Amino acid sequence: MAAKRNDVAELPGLDVPGTAEPKLGPTGRPLREFPVPAPLNGHGPARIIALCNQKGGVGKTTTTINLGASLAQYGRRVLAIDFDPQGALSAGLGINTHDLPTIYDLLLGSEKDTLSTIVETSTPGLDIIPANIDLSAAEVHLVNEVAREMILARVLRRVSDRYDVILIDCQPSLGLLTVNALTAAHGVLIPLECEFFALRGVALLIETIDKVRDRLNPAITLDGILPTMFDPRTLHSREVLERVVETFGDRVLESVIGRTVKFPDASVAGTPITTFAPEHAAAESYRRVARELVARGAVA
Ligand SMILES: Nc1ncnc2c1ncn2[C@@H]1O[C@H](COP(=O)(O)OP(=O)(O)OP(=O)(O)O)[C@@H](O)[C@H]1O
Ligand SMILES: [Mg+2]
Repeated sequence: MAAKRNDVAELPGLDVPGTAEPKLGPTGRPLREFPVPAPLNGHGPARIIALCNQKGGVGKTTTTINLGASLAQYGRRVLAIDFDPQGALSAGLGINTHDLPTIYDLLLGSEKDTLSTIVETSTPGLDIIPANIDLSAAEVHLVNEVAREMILARVLRRVSDRYDVILIDCQPSLGLLTVNALTAAHGVLIPLECEFFALRGVALLIETIDKVRDRLNPAITLDGILPTMFDPRTLHSREVLERVVETFGDRVLESVIGRTVKFPDASVAGTPITTFAPEHAAAESYRRVARELVARGAVA
């Protein structure tokens, strides 16, 4: 079946020729397990993470949804921000944005109460501030504002104490909205598709993060690069991943997301894969990302 052929969520360790040990993970480093995060005694203030890559279709939204749901499963209070006028995050979490106040209203100041725009999703512990196509007009409206790069930071500060982590799903551009996300964020997570052209553009993205660090947000860190849509059966995919690790070293997460049709299927159902197919290897792969980010200290 065609669907079956595309489904490679399982990521077995690679065999090291001539040796039995150690078993290597897909990024060529020894396979490690990350512990289930300990429960938290209280909540907040949130660590804000921007999911950013100006290349389209690399898994930013899928990662926001499924990392958010996984962290929520581990008892973290998560707020996801839809920061893309396409509204894919809102749709992927089953939120109909018609008639709802959105992030656009908060940016423009026509809505001042951030709390009142937060919507609960069907995943306990995972909330969202939605977006819709209105947001496409935001850059034009904000361009003459004082401190126009800091508007999102101000909006999020009002609710930060209620959450452990805030994930911002950026649009595929390096424009003013993305600069707002980078200015609000403590860290950046870069989803990177295991594809030939994936590395193009990452240098520019890192340059942009460096500029934001210099001029607007001295504390911002690169939390990690997450390889996505990895297909262990193709030499191409393995070569790209090798190049990524060669270039970015430990900044590449050990967790890797395989390519599987379960993700589009879950999006159509408007639910995280951790609910849609909790036992599927793809769901486990995002729970692993969540555990790794906690182990790295990127999330409480
Ligand atoms: N690991 C995966 N395997 C197979 N398909 C995937 C995977 N991750 C995401 N997809 C699918 O690829 C498409 C693009 O993913 P997604 O929307 O998460 O990317 P994005 O970076 O947010 O895109 P955009 O830049 O347009 O916002 C979606 O249809 C999604 O369901
Ligand atoms: Mg997206």
